Amino acid sequence: MRERLASRIKKILSPEEMLPLGGRQAKVISISNQKGGVGKTTTSVNLGAGLALFHHKKVLLVDMDAQGHIGTSLNHLASNGGGIGQVLGAKNGSIMDVIVPTVVPQMDMTPSDHSLLEAESQLAGKIGREFILRKALTRARTYYDYILIDCPPNLGNLTVNAYVASDYLLIPCDLSALALEGMEGILEVVDTVNFRLNHPLKILGVLTTRVDHRNLVMNETVFARLKEAFSDKLFRTQITVNTDLNKAQLRGKPIFMVARSSAGARDYHALADELIERLDSLSGPTRL
Ligand SMILES: Nc1ncnc2c1ncn2[C@@H]1O[C@H](COP(=O)(O)OP(=O)(O)OP(=O)(O)O)[C@@H](O)[C@H]1O
Ligand SMILES: [Mg+2]
Repeated sequence: MRERLASRIKKILSPEEMLPLGGRQAKVISISNQKGGVGKTTTSVNLGAGLALFHHKKVLLVDMDAQGHIGTSLNHLASNGGGIGQVLGAKNGSIMDVIVPTVVPQMDMTPSDHSLLEAESQLAGKIGREFILRKALTRARTYYDYILIDCPPNLGNLTVNAYVASDYLLIPCDLSALALEGMEGILEVVDTVNFRLNHPLKILGVLTTRVDHRNLVMNETVFARLKEAFSDKLFRTQITVNTDLNKAQLRGKPIFMVARSSAGARDYHALADELIERLDSLSGPTRL
């Protein structure tokens, strides 16, 4: 009788729900901007590495972009299955099944795979499609301190899944004339997630990236507009243009392992510090 009950419970619970809990409580952060090439992947990899190396946090990078750039940035070969697309396509899929280690000891990743390309359209027909990644992350949240989701350069189903799975949104943004274009679209999706899907996603901050300090007039004009729109949500830290970041990506390693004293390493270290400080201030003083 007891055995029959156990086997019935096993059938009801998904493999995800049967895994043991890890004892941590990850903060999940989507790194997103629908504008292409603004440094979403560079920020995911180097912020993640900064949190792991300098703050001893356990970090998971989730690649929600079919381009698979998290994998290329960390020397992980393209995966034929065994990636996030497979998890989203499976009934009761779990991220825990597709986690692989990276060159950074405290940082793991889940690669994108070829089926992620189809997942975008397949999700459209599924009931509860916005909540699939959130559910697949349940157990992983207990094994990591930070989960960073590298989003694709659009606001489709995969991005909505990332937002619904996240506590916070970090928006990298360059200081080009088109920087503010598209921000409205992001804010609309945040609104939908907050009010229609009833999920309290918060904007953690806007990060200015690829800042070229020789371009003073453009920088000041766009920065002033961003400041007006986002005020204290703008990160103090700016990521300057630095070709070492590009070289590190080509070599498949975080900047700290390729050019430790470069401007890129300095900026991403400062960002990791500021992010921890900001999250601490958001969670308020510790009660005794
Ligand atoms: N601060 C920087 N200085 C110089 N090059 C940079 C910087 N940040 C990113 N890059 C380079 O710019 C390119 C685009 O960066 P990245 O892939 O991080 O952008 P993305 O927003 O993820 O792009 P996509 O929208 O295609 O996903 C890459 O070649 C990267 O190495
Ligand atoms: Mg990218």
